[in-house]
Amino acid sequence: MKQQLVDKFLEIYGEGDGVNVYFAPGRVNLIGEHTDYNGGHVFPCAITIGTYAAARRREDSVLHFYSLNDPDQGMVTACLEDLAYRRKDGWGNYPKGVIQTFLQKGCQISCGLDLLYYGDIPKGLGIGSSASLEVVTGLILKDMAGLSDISMAEIALFGQLAENEYMGMKCGIMDPFAIAFGKKDHAILLDTSNLSYVYAPLQLVHEKMIITNSKKDRDFVDERYRDRRAQCEEALKELQTVISIRNLSELTAEVFEEVQEMIKSPVRIRRARHAVTENQRTIQAAQALERGDIWEFGQFMNASHLSLKEDYEVSCKELDILVEEAWNIEGVVGSRMMGAGFGGCTISIVEDSAVSEFIDRVGRNYEKRTGLKAEFYVVETGNGAAIL
Ligand code: GLA
Repeated sequence: MKQQLVDKFLEIYGEGDGVNVYFAPGRVNLIGEHTDYNGGHVFPCAITIGTYAAARRREDSVLHFYSLNDPDQGMVTACLEDLAYRRKDGWGNYPKGVIQTFLQKGCQISCGLDLLYYGDIPKGLGIGSSASLEVVTGLILKDMAGLSDISMAEIALFGQLAENEYMGMKCGIMDPFAIAFGKKDHAILLDTSNLSYVYAPLQLVHEKMIITNSKKDRDFVDERYRDRRAQCEEALKELQTVISIRNLSELTAEVFEEVQEMIKSPVRIRRARHAVTENQRTIQAAQALERGDIWEFGQFMNASHLSLKEDYEVSCKELDILVEEAWNIEGVVGSRMMGAGFGGCTISIVEDSAVSEFIDRVGRNYEKRTGLKAEFYVVETGNGAAIL
């Protein structure tokens, strides 16, 4: 991949030295969904597919962005003095937003850049492709534009900020953090209230991780995501009138039971209950994995799905069918919707001996019940963002 990308780079931008190649992975989240903006725990891992980028310094302040995934978009051009969002720049707004964010944070970017991107994350899956693009761009700035003091945590935070402020998607820190800090054969138990984290060994000896793409369009996902966030913030405020907490995840399920009546709407009670119980499930699931009890871990994944479906209401008919069909197969350790929801994908842990039956039966029954053709990806843990 590295040499191919360099060759392509030289073809597009012209011969010369100084081309470096970078990679930032995608991520899966094993458990801990919609907890990262509620100060809770998440348990993601980086995977081996992601975004590659080749880059070379320029003597002026011009920025060129080209993606092999979107040749129709052509070359996107900007400069350090003008990085305003422009609709016509399409995907190019993501890296522009990252550079703009670094500048707003006071970073002195020392050069212009020619950039060439190529990602092998299938479209619409919801496994962190935009965060992957943002983190790889941040890493390039660190390495090439005189910002060696910037830490990986700052790259993740600036990536999130670019997504929140520049792209207008109010996501949490999970995706860029997992992508920046991923480690092969490990998941990351991240406490999003203070960004402390521990690596948990994740070596699936007899099982595979399977991502199933529902192929269901994620209608109004940004708005619905924002609604959930606002509902949780409102519930938190109501609880803060009787209990001193900074975020919902500081509550145990037992304490939540006692104070929940302060929340004045049944919908907000359900939202808050998910935030509380999902955080606890995530911690307990990570402990089960540490004990080597993958089946108990799977039970937590299944419970997570039910909570996302019933309390948080971010699942949809298609995701529920995928999960239900998965649960019917012997050898499925756990299965649940993954990511923001309303479409996108599920994650399942499946025993090796059941993988082909899983793909065959879930695919067939899903098509029968929805008319949609699901796609399956067996994914592996990988390392975080790096210079290749
Ligand atoms: C999206 C966001 C993440 C996280 C998940 C839900 O993937 O980007 O920050 O909130 O949804 O867990």
